[in-house]
Amino acid sequence: MNRPRPWLIAACLLASWPAAAGVAGVDNPRRAWQHWVLNCQGCHGPDAAGRPNATPNMAGEVAQFLGTPEGRAYLGRVPGVADAPLSDAALAELMNWMLVRFDPDNMPADFRPYTAQEIKKLRSQPLRTDASRTRAALLGATGSTARDTNRGEP
Ligand code: HEC
Repeated sequence: MNRPRPWLIAACLLASWPAAAGVAGVDNPRRAWQHWVLNCQGCHGPDAAGRPNATPNMAGEVAQFLGTPEGRAYLGRVPGVADAPLSDAALAELMNWMLVRFDPDNMPADFRPYTAQEIKKLRSQPLRTDASRTRAALLGATGSTARDTNRGEP
């Protein structure tokens, strides 16, 4: 018997869909987005544009930090990331989602997605009051065009 089996075709399509449409290191984009809304958006804004004198813009800029190992580490050590009330795995997924979502053009071709293990290590060395100084130094070193945080520090 060679009857077509619509359920099988549907199952195959479903199984292949995330791989085809997905982002490496992101198992569930919807979950990552929800984590962004609940934990990050309040400061960064829905489109990651930040707020003047408070939170830097990340849209079209943030992936430039991936250009150096220190920059990559910085992204996992900023307080908002390191202290997020999320598991290492959920945070790694959120970072991978966030980078592609808000700055696809600056993603390095050889980008290795953050893993839970890497995030665990980075967030165990959180930046505190030195976050914006570290950021400024990184921007200088990478020649990044990302703008200053504009936090009006003393
Ligand atoms: C309380 C406000 C606040 C929250 C909540 C917050 N952030 Fe941030 N974030 C900042 C500020 C301010 C900076 C700039 C660095 C600094 O001075 O701490 C920053 C920097 C960053 C950076 C580095 C990029 C850059 O341009 O410096 C990343 C990545 C980031 N945040 C991601 C997140 C993610 C993901 C979340 C949610 C899990 C989050 N942040 C939650 C305020 C926040």
